Amino acid sequence: MFITFEGLDGSGKTTQIKALAAHLKARGKNVLLTREPGGTLIGDQIRPILQDRTHTAMTPQTELLLFCASRAQLVAEVIRPWLADGGVVICDRFADSTLAYQGYGRNLDLDFLRQLLAFATGGLQPDLTLYLDVSPEEGLARRRQASLFGEEFSRIDQLELDFHRRVHQGYLDLIADDPERWVVIDAARPSEQIQQAILDVLEARTGLTT
Ligand code: TYD
Repeated sequence: MFITFEGLDGSGKTTQIKALAAHLKARGKNVLLTREPGGTLIGDQIRPILQDRTHTAMTPQTELLLFCASRAQLVAEVIRPWLADGGVVICDRFADSTLAYQGYGRNLDLDFLRQLLAFATGGLQPDLTLYLDVSPEEGLARRRQASLFGEEFSRIDQLELDFHRRVHQGYLDLIADDPERWVVIDAARPSEQIQQAILDVLEARTGLTT
C-alpha cells in the first residue's frame, strides 16, 4: 500500500503527517514515512539545492530534473523495496507535486511531465492520495505566520500568489481526473479536526489506524 499526501505550501501537511506517524508507531505498525524532495542520502543532498532562496537563476527545466532525480532515487532505493516486503509507505509529496508545481505552476508541458515521471518512477502510482485543501491565500497567510516563528520561506514558498493559484487549480484538475485515488481533506480548520479526518479516511480505506 502506497499512500501520498499533497497540498499547497502552508496546508499543514507535514505537521499532520508527523502526528500520523506517531499514531501509527504507537500501534506498532510497519509503516515507512518519507518525504520529497529527500528521503535518501542522495535526495537529501538534492533538497537544499532546490530550496536555497539564493538560487533564483534556476530554470524550470533544472528544477524539474532535480525533483525527478531525487524521486527516482527514492523510488528505487526506499519505496519499491519496502512495498515488495509488504510494508506500507506514506510519502509527503510525490509525482502529483511535479504535475501541480512544475506543470501548472511553471507551465511545463503536462504530457512530457507524465512521460518523465513514468521514467523516473518506473510507473509507480500511489494507491491513495490525501489532499489537504487550503486556499492559496490561506496557505500564504500561514507561511507568513510561520516565518514570524523562525521558519524560513523556501525558494518556491516565496513565489508570487499567482503561482500558488495555478498550483491550486492544478491540484483541482488532477483530483477531477482521478477521483477514485484522491480524498480531499478540508485543512482550513483546527489541527486536531484535520488529524481526526485523516485517521477516519485511513481507517475506512486501509484499516491501518487501529
Ligand atoms: P518542503 O519544505 O518539503 O515543503 P512542504 O512542507 O510544503 O512539502 O518543500 C517542498 C517544496 O517543493 C514545496 O514548495 C513544493 C515543491 N515541490 C515541487 O515544486 N515539485 C515537486 O515535485 C515536489 C516534490 C515539491
